[in-house]
Amino acid sequence: MTTTKPLTIAVPKGRILKDLIPLVQRAGLDSTPLQENDRRLVRPTADGAFRYVFLKPDDVPTYVEYGAADLGVSGRDTLLERRHDLYTPLDLGIGRCRLVVAGPEDTPIPDLPRVATKYPRIAGDHFASKGVVAEIIPVHGSVELAPLVGLSHLIVDIVETGATLRENRLEVLETVTEVSTLLIANRASYKLRSDTVRPLVERLRAATAAARR
Ligand code: PRP
Repeated sequence: MTTTKPLTIAVPKGRILKDLIPLVQRAGLDSTPLQENDRRLVRPTADGAFRYVFLKPDDVPTYVEYGAADLGVSGRDTLLERRHDLYTPLDLGIGRCRLVVAGPEDTPIPDLPRVATKYPRIAGDHFASKGVVAEIIPVHGSVELAPLVGLSHLIVDIVETGATLRENRLEVLETVTEVSTLLIANRASYKLRSDTVRPLVERLRAATAAARR
């Protein structure tokens, strides 16, 4: 008897799951393991064809690049910042938001601004492309706090509803890039497991297109 290794799909814990579940269902895939409310990090589907692994969003591309997962779900922001060696076969059309430069309302910006961000590489490239010499200060979260207490003049961060900026009296100064969530694939898996991977990608593609209509 031959046993086929289940296809491993890396999914980010957190807010994107609520949008991912209906998409997976629309694609006709078993979403039950995504909905279970427990602490298991590896969750196989009932038929054993797939297993989902649950990760911090920033770690998803790492697992896929190294082949510990065949496919994954990752934000374009993370992929731009980390620049992993991966395939990105499909924009899933969920998790839409913007990466922006923001600062305190009605406050002049100095010539050499300090910029706090979870995206030091993207922010550095952005200011360099404009010929602005900015000091980039890496932080890991609650980025909006930085200008409120004098850590930085500006931030580069994700805006989704805009509520966090508004409630902290910050305003968008410019958009760096639009962000959405992509399906990512390990390069070897995409070729060597194409019999399983390609149909799955096509089902997700159809589900994504249906969601847009
Ligand atoms: C993200 C982002 C903003 C916020 C934007 O933070 O960094 O802070 O969401 O969302 P909004 O425009 O809908 O208010 P997250 O909630 O992931 O937590 P963090 O601050 O700890 O990074």
